[in-house]
Amino acid sequence: MKNDVVKIRVSDIYLDESIYPRENIDHKRIAVFLENLRDNFKFDPIKVQAYPGKKGKYRILDGAHRWSAYKKAGQTEIYVIVKTLNKIDPLLYAATMAIGPKQLTESETKNTARRAFQKNTKLTSSEIGKAIGRSRQAVDSYIADLRATTLLELDLKIFHLNLLGIPQDRIAKRLGIPRKTLFNHLAKMPGLAKWPNSDLSKGFTIPQVAQKHGWPEPMVWSQALKGKDDQTRFKELNWGIRTWDLWNFIDCDNRFGDDWPGRIPAQLIAHILYFFSEQNDLVFDPMAGGGVCADTCLAMGRRCWSLDMDDRPEARPEIEPYHWDLEAKWDDLPIINSKDKPDLIICDPPYFNKKAKEYAEQSISGLSRTNYLKFLEKFFLFLKKISRKNIKLAFINADWRDFQNCPANKEDPEQAILIVDYHEILKKTGWVLTHVIQAPMSSQRFNAGVVAAMQKKKILGVTSRYVMILK
Ligand SMILES: C[S@@+](CC[C@H](N)C(=O)[O-])C[C@H]1O[C@@H](n2cnc3c(N)ncnc32)[C@H](O)[C@@H]1O
Repeated sequence: MKNDVVKIRVSDIYLDESIYPRENIDHKRIAVFLENLRDNFKFDPIKVQAYPGKKGKYRILDGAHRWSAYKKAGQTEIYVIVKTLNKIDPLLYAATMAIGPKQLTESETKNTARRAFQKNTKLTSSEIGKAIGRSRQAVDSYIADLRATTLLELDLKIFHLNLLGIPQDRIAKRLGIPRKTLFNHLAKMPGLAKWPNSDLSKGFTIPQVAQKHGWPEPMVWSQALKGKDDQTRFKELNWGIRTWDLWNFIDCDNRFGDDWPGRIPAQLIAHILYFFSEQNDLVFDPMAGGGVCADTCLAMGRRCWSLDMDDRPEARPEIEPYHWDLEAKWDDLPIINSKDKPDLIICDPPYFNKKAKEYAEQSISGLSRTNYLKFLEKFFLFLKKISRKNIKLAFINADWRDFQNCPANKEDPEQAILIVDYHEILKKTGWVLTHVIQAPMSSQRFNAGVVAAMQKKKILGVTSRYVMILK
């Protein structure tokens, strides 16, 4: 812990309630301090911490009453100690500081323990107890209900990731728990599905069971459809099977995947799974976005590993964070050392340029045309290198033409990337094309006014999208 005494402006110091352990400011105490200041009494410097996300500002760790007195006395600058807390929780640190001069009340102590645990569920009762001056047992009783909920949520996450076939070392890393803890939790897994299954057998619907037990719907589907064949699963999910190589769906199925830029319908993923994989196969989605692939795999009884640069540990713990950086070697890829290898890769990259603004800054969507193509070549070669022999690749993409403000006749072919260009790269990197399936995007996203304007300017839009299957 580093301490620096510096002089800073009183107006740059804030009382952040989220790290303040007391329920109220004691105005009588401030009045006494104000008197002391008028008598030229010198206080110890107050303790502050750099305010996270607010450059040049500080928040109080210790000395809220002195700070208020300084403000009332009209002082513009004061001496403070700027603390660097590293891994110490600021709320608990503030609570420790508060114990000395004026004890926290019982309700303040209890609330501080609960707030600290809610912010960081990895804190132990003894750690919290030490900071607030209470025994481990007392803290246990303050936070018993919170801990029970957290354990239930943790169990659910473990169950979810385990169902998807993610290896134990990666589950432990993703959830930030020791392997031994994971092992203990895994032992409970068979019992976890008992109550949802019992409700399903009583005739409760999938959404009802999901809501009652706090399960994501796709996990309930995975239980409800257990042991059923693919055709029955389609039927129960209310999806018609497309028999021909034209897979057109009007809407995304909101039961699977999040609302996400470039979201594809679960029905599209389900058809790839139906025709090109078996139950319990391992699917790999290297750019998973809103998680529709993993969700659909649960419903279709496949395992699934997902990666994305966008990290959402709470909402989507099953999507492991990874940034495919064009300049890197990718030897740190989470799946690289796994004994298990995927049977099918479903690759839905962002289209070149199209949604660059909607994805994170480092997305391949923002690369230049040359670099986007260079990326794909390196990517396809790499996927080949890390795959098993009979792997299949489903590559989803569309023609990219800059049609939006340009009559068809005037488009610059040098700027376009057509589906045949992708095929050239795939061929060059050793992938053999076996099927091309049309899976058009909906044209409903263009309203009548836009369509009329396009027609007037002789603009030829793009709604075709393809799924290329390769071996
Ligand atoms: C078209 S979206 C996938 C959508 C997904 N199939 C769905 O339906 O929700 C492409 C994803 O690629 C991710 N992405 C783009 N560039 C990436 C990179 N260099 N490394 C990792 N992920 C990347 C984006 O964050 C985005 O979520």
